[in-house]
Amino acid sequence: MKYQIKPFLFIIAIIGCVSLAATVPQQKQQQDWKAKNLKVLPKDISKKALDSIMHDYRDALGVKCNFCHAKSATDSTKLDFASDANRKKNFARYMMVMTDSINNKYFKRQLQRHGTFSVTCATCHRGEEEPAVAMPMIEKMPQKKGE
Ligand code: HEC
Ligand code: HEC
Repeated sequence: MKYQIKPFLFIIAIIGCVSLAATVPQQKQQQDWKAKNLKVLPKDISKKALDSIMHDYRDALGVKCNFCHAKSATDSTKLDFASDANRKKNFARYMMVMTDSINNKYFKRQLQRHGTFSVTCATCHRGEEEPAVAMPMIEKMPQKKGE
């Protein structure tokens, strides 16, 4: 019986090695990617995590990437994500620090217990570049008696 199991294990080991060899270059590629100009986010953030944050910003403000990111100086059909030429990018950094401090100062328990932010870009922006400062006018508000 033992004798029959061995080749089976051998094959498993081979498959293991082959699939390991296939995933190593992919992982290496991931590790090789590094953002060039981060001042607020962790400098060793993964490409996947950064992409997800950037998509959240885009959706929260209802804009495209070029709202904050300047065009490449060498190829105007592309964006230069590391460049700080677009002023909105720096303003976004200021907003990131503010949002972080609101959560850390006023919603610390939520952050510690659930690891989630209570206030995000979307809380204020709700798909707008500049959040509204007042409620939208509601026409024909029901009149209260006695007023
Ligand atoms: C609301 C503004 C805003 C929007 C919209 C936005 N970004 Fe960013 N992005 C930033 C800021 C701010 C940084 C730098 C963060 C820091 O300094 O820690 C950044 C950094 C990056 C970086 C890292 C560049 C480097 O090498 O340093 C990439 C890549 C990037 N953004 C891609 C995108 C993509 C793709 C989109 C669209 C899906 C997008 N961003 C939308 C504000 C924005
Ligand atoms: C507490 C509410 C609040 C939160 C949270 C917030 N913002 Fe803002 N944001 C504002 C207000 C208000 C303005 C308009 C500021 C002004 O008067 O110019 C603004 C403006 C901006 C602008 C400039 C827009 C323009 O048209 O010039 C950017 C970019 C921006 N926010 C990005 C962000 C990002 C990214 C986040 C999340 C990391 C964020 N904001 C979170 C309230 C907020």
